[in-house]
Amino acid sequence: MAPSAIVSDTAPPALIPESQQTLANASHSNLFSLSNKTIAITGGGRGLGITLAAAVLEAGGHAACLDILEAPSAVEWAALQKTAKLAGLHVSYHRCDITNEEQLSSVLDEVAAEGLRLQAPFYGAVACAAIQQKIPAVDYPAADFERILGVNVLGTFLTAKHAARIFMESGVKGSVVMVASMSGQIANRGLTCTAYNTSKAAVQQMCRSVAQEWGRYGIRVNTLSPGYIRTAMTDELLAAEPEVEKTWMAGALLGRLGAPEDFKAPAIFLLAPGSSFMTGADLRVDGGHCASA
Ligand SMILES: NC(=O)c1ccc[n+]([C@@H]2O[C@H](COP(=O)([O-])OP(=O)(O)OC[C@H]3O[C@@H](n4cnc5c(N)ncnc54)[C@H](O)[C@@H]3O)[C@@H](O)[C@H]2O)c1
Repeated sequence: MAPSAIVSDTAPPALIPESQQTLANASHSNLFSLSNKTIAITGGGRGLGITLAAAVLEAGGHAACLDILEAPSAVEWAALQKTAKLAGLHVSYHRCDITNEEQLSSVLDEVAAEGLRLQAPFYGAVACAAIQQKIPAVDYPAADFERILGVNVLGTFLTAKHAARIFMESGVKGSVVMVASMSGQIANRGLTCTAYNTSKAAVQQMCRSVAQEWGRYGIRVNTLSPGYIRTAMTDELLAAEPEVEKTWMAGALLGRLGAPEDFKAPAIFLLAPGSSFMTGADLRVDGGHCASA
């Protein structure tokens, strides 16, 4: 059923009865469990995304990784397959461009169908795919600016849109986690990344907008905003300008930059029943970076 057939301006669906609203009285282990659930992770071919796919498996969920890369990073993928096998879980890789709506929508339908076969409905999406580019604003080519917004903003929107469509069609009160960045709230000293920063602020506002629309279906949407993480994305920036790391470390209240593993628990929290009263919110996990000037 198309979402437009469900939503009517004149007769909005009734609010969810209060008795169904909270899952937060579940046992401690269930609060952070994704057991019998299938989760899709875009950008799941490497970096933060593939680490979050591992976290999904560790929380008992089945994981579907979507990425534009021909194949996922070999070492991490082998580790994921091993974890899945040991736990009796399913992990799949789907080559997919998140800016291609037809492709993305059909891959997510495929993931949902696989979830049904596994008796683990499609319940969550982590929109983690994004691109970065460093160019001084005064020289920023319009085409590059549009490309960044295309992947980071439109791609994130399409991921959330089709996840929500499937949740609505199947009556699942699912959870969408959009990976934004502390750069959605601050401008990073030493970095000329206007398009990226703009895109991440847009993702934070997109989250509030769709959370406002989809709360009536019990669908939750939150952003996870990391600070600096050592991944291929930041390695590229630091390789071009190694002195930038000193600026970053100056704001690192815990004396280190982040590692992808630092975001496992926050992402699982946002997906799992423990955060069932949380929507339209931003969870910033930045090692204290934004807390001091
Ligand atoms: N690394 C950091 O310091 C940092 C800080 C804050 C936020 N983030 C965010 O974390 C997320 C992951 O970043 P990362 O550091 O792991 O970067 P990364 O470049 O290692 O991973 C991004 C992934 O997205 C994929 N991707 C890019 N365009 C795509 C497209 N059109 N369709 C499908 N997949 C596509 C890439 O192939 C890649 O695997 C991003 O949203 C990024 O903005 C990263």
